Amino acid sequence: MSLKLGEVAPDFKAETSKGLINFHSWLGDSWGVLFSHPADFTPVCTTELGTVSNLQDEFTKRNVKTIALSVDSLESHFKWIDDINETQNTIVDFPIIADPNFEVANLYEMIHPNSSDKFTVRSVFIIGTDKKIKLTLTYPASTGRNFDEILRVIDSLKLTADYSVATPANWIQGEKVVIIPSVSDELALEKFPKGFETIKPYLRLTEQPNN
Ligand code: BEZ
Repeated sequence: MSLKLGEVAPDFKAETSKGLINFHSWLGDSWGVLFSHPADFTPVCTTELGTVSNLQDEFTKRNVKTIALSVDSLESHFKWIDDINETQNTIVDFPIIADPNFEVANLYEMIHPNSSDKFTVRSVFIIGTDKKIKLTLTYPASTGRNFDEILRVIDSLKLTADYSVATPANWIQGEKVVIIPSVSDELALEKFPKGFETIKPYLRLTEQPNN
């Protein structure tokens, strides 16, 4: 049984490179991005952690906390962080969970035995301020993730939570959005005073409402 969108993200207590954390308390009123990687001292993971570290201002701006996980030990994480800082021109300041007994990895089903029974795959969970799972992603070990895409999804999640819109393919901040089908044309005129363009009755574009 995999974790589904809309479910409460399982809570846990874990040792991290920033101390012992209780996940839900640590999240507080922030959004969260929990992401696993296969192992410390591996090349793709090193670039991923460096990228997330260098994007911290972007995550903070969006009220998002990031937390990484691998099944390596805390001692290993501390040594590896030195390498990440050195090679990726950064200072890693977000927690990396040490999960040598696979407790969090199993809770979040980050082990895919037909890929590897020893390492976590590259999972991503975006968690809202209500502690519910808003997005899941699973990448293989061989493919580093695009964290600009994670930021883009967070922008879409926040916008679509507040307005009766959805974001079309490849949408980025500032571009037109679509009006959700449950909103009638009459109501759309009230909700979107700048108006909207009807391409098909089910495909109506409007300016990003919070821009
Ligand atoms: C890496 O992070 O570079 C990696 C990890 C496991 C398998 C392949 C690549």
